[in-house]
Amino acid sequence: MTPRRALCTASKPIGFVFDIDGVLLRGKNPIPSASKALSLLNDIKIPYILLTNGGGKLETERAKALSRTLNVEISPLQIVQCHTPFKTLANKFDRVLAVGTPSVREVAEAYGFKDVVHQYDIVRYNKNITPFSALSREQLMQYSKEISNLDTKRFDAILVFNDPLNWAADIQIMCDLLNSQNGMLNTVRKDKSETPSIPIFFSNKDLLWSNAYNLNRFGQGAFRLLVRKLYCETNNGKPLIDFVTGKPTKLTYDFAHHLLIRWRDVLFQHSDGSPATLPELGIAPKNSPFTDVFMVGDNPASDIAGAINYGWSTCLVKTGVYREGDCIGENNPTMTVSDVHEAVTNVLNRYV
Ligand code: G3P
Ligand code: MG
Repeated sequence: MTPRRALCTASKPIGFVFDIDGVLLRGKNPIPSASKALSLLNDIKIPYILLTNGGGKLETERAKALSRTLNVEISPLQIVQCHTPFKTLANKFDRVLAVGTPSVREVAEAYGFKDVVHQYDIVRYNKNITPFSALSREQLMQYSKEISNLDTKRFDAILVFNDPLNWAADIQIMCDLLNSQNGMLNTVRKDKSETPSIPIFFSNKDLLWSNAYNLNRFGQGAFRLLVRKLYCETNNGKPLIDFVTGKPTKLTYDFAHHLLIRWRDVLFQHSDGSPATLPELGIAPKNSPFTDVFMVGDNPASDIAGAINYGWSTCLVKTGVYREGDCIGENNPTMTVSDVHEAVTNVLNRYV
């Protein structure tokens, strides 16, 4: 073991939190230095987790796909997606509308939600609810389910797991339920209010994100803006009261912090990684073993802003949303680097 290894694991307990899109991947393609950066940390046993505002898959699948793409072994215990904190809501609601790509039904069910309805089930129930749905009949039959009591049992909440595909139809269905009588489909309430008929949770508010295209793309934050605008318009100008998880919320950083601590325990064999309970939403870890945690991100308004507010150090990379010269307002990172490998080596050289 080199002297640095001894220092890292014993006297300088630091940890890393990596964003995925724009830091490790562009679309499905790995960012060239990503594999090298993670392998280096694996070699010297420095704990890290991945914290993404992406979603739509189970953590086990995401870990498998990333391990394959990056050629580095990544455990599901190292993955926090924007909807991972939704697991803690599974016992709070009976019927939920799980909004997103078709795969979010499986995610919601695996998280323990008892009665999951996907927005396509509602399109299938009555096509006239969404006259502008772009879904073909084949897609509808493939991805939707017939649910017999769709209009006789109330919805308790709407959970937006990831960016859905048919915004016009999806927004219509969501607004119907937000303005319904007690969450019953086919009804409309009389009063106008900031408080929707049923609570709505968005899993992130990223206006932009970075995929394989050369320009930044609209994310779930853009979708949320449209839902909020239409709700406001149909409620006499009253703004929608909603809940948001994902970066940059403190709630998500607390959740990620718990998971980083748990992963450190697994790495140093203090635990097998199966805690009796999940961390409760909004509760910060009582003690942290880390003297410093470094968030490596590409989005100043999301990764960097959230980490600064949380008191972590930050490395802003230039391989994603942020481009040299962009205005980043108050979101000044601890360091700006070309890519994730430079972030890791800089931290190790300067701080360890
Ligand atoms: O939809 C994904 C996006 O909003 C951001 O993902 O990994 O950059 O947090 P990430
Ligand atoms: Mg990113």
